[in-house]
Amino acid sequence: MFVSDSLNVNELGHLTIGGADTVEIAEKYGTPVIVYSEDGIRRNCRAFVNSIDKYYNGNGRVLYAGKAFSCLEMCRIMNEEKMGLDVVSGGELYTAVKAGFPTDRIYFHGNNKTYNELKMALEYGVGRIIVDNPDELATLSALAKEMGKTANIYMRIKPGIDAHTHSFIMTGQIDSKFGFALETGEAMECVKLCAETENVNLVGLHCHIGSQIFDVDPFVHAAEVMMKLIADVKAETGIVISELDLGGGFGIKYVDSDKPVEFDAYMKPVSEQVKASAEKYGIDVPFILIEPGRSIAGAEAVTLYTVGNVKKIPDIRTYVAIDGGMCDNPRYILYQSDYTVMCASRANENKDAVVTVAGKCCESGDLIQENAPVQKVEKGDILAVLTTGAYNYSMSSNYNRIPRPEVLMVKDGQVRTIIKRETYEDIIKNDM
Ligand code: LLP
Repeated sequence: MFVSDSLNVNELGHLTIGGADTVEIAEKYGTPVIVYSEDGIRRNCRAFVNSIDKYYNGNGRVLYAGKAFSCLEMCRIMNEEKMGLDVVSGGELYTAVKAGFPTDRIYFHGNNKTYNELKMALEYGVGRIIVDNPDELATLSALAKEMGKTANIYMRIKPGIDAHTHSFIMTGQIDSKFGFALETGEAMECVKLCAETENVNLVGLHCHIGSQIFDVDPFVHAAEVMMKLIADVKAETGIVISELDLGGGFGIKYVDSDKPVEFDAYMKPVSEQVKASAEKYGIDVPFILIEPGRSIAGAEAVTLYTVGNVKKIPDIRTYVAIDGGMCDNPRYILYQSDYTVMCASRANENKDAVVTVAGKCCESGDLIQENAPVQKVEKGDILAVLTTGAYNYSMSSNYNRIPRPEVLMVKDGQVRTIIKRETYEDIIKNDM
């Protein structure tokens, strides 16, 4: 019935997450509020880690892609789960460091890391820096030399794979701002450049073909393409690439029609491909990394809103206006993303109504969902939007000077705040 095992309905007919009653949470903490299940997050981490153990004999690592949702508590949980961390900015790196995350398990991505971010990465001693372009390679080399360090690097490769997902979140094709193209020979040229570049040590290759992907085939294809590149690199340059990062992008369930692939059903064919390619090309199986973000955090949170008004436009549609919107969840306005919507206090009733959930921002496109089936819903009800754990808070804004919501974590039915609600004072704190 639900997008995640963390959700249920209690004897009052209220939606629960991690055993906590969402209607009670809304009363106590106010709305909008984002509520995560800690057990759900940990369960997902373990499923990925076990998969790596099972299919690569532990010769690999799972990195949580912090862009999905980063904060001190998430970094602490990821550390406890023995995960690595993918960061893409000084801010994500700073958060991890402040949470005491071991820097040797941090992997620094990004298509335009600034000089200061690269310096910060070297100062903190991040495990790997994923180099995106020749300019960055030169800057990093010069910086590392100045600081008397050697950076262990990966190169980000565009493997030329067309994964079927929204064009904004597709990244493996040649027309992408990320990384080095394979087909044009750009990737091989840069491998050679790395070999001649001081104070960098090329240890791995990376690719990420896109996000919210349900097919296994593009992942298997990417693994083969990357293994061939490792073999070609060895043959042409003698360089042995010992680490292969295959990225993230595993699709999750937002609505009933989404059919996510089980982790193992992805990992098994990909690992078989990696091993078969290793044999075919006569190279060793590299240390494998994967970078799930959405599939760790996405389905393990709900956002709770209070309904302010219900506007029926005869023969057109019914708008249900909530006390949040694109400021806490810009995914509908950006990608027309699907969501499951529920009335939290009538979670066991039939969804007989069809409504358009409208945010409170001064913008017609500020919707969370159009024509969504939902239970009866009235002014004052708590509306729950499911699967808001990834790329919601992390992409939130203060548009219309609306403070960001509070974020809660539930464990064994106990609720705690992990990010405080922003106040109006927070909104003006940098104004002069
Ligand atoms: N690794 C790299 C290099 C990435 O660029 C990403 C996501 C991931 C891993 C994690 O992908 P995931 O497993 O979460 O799909 N804002 C969009 C998604 C953008 C994804 C960016 N990169 C959304 O809300 O759908």
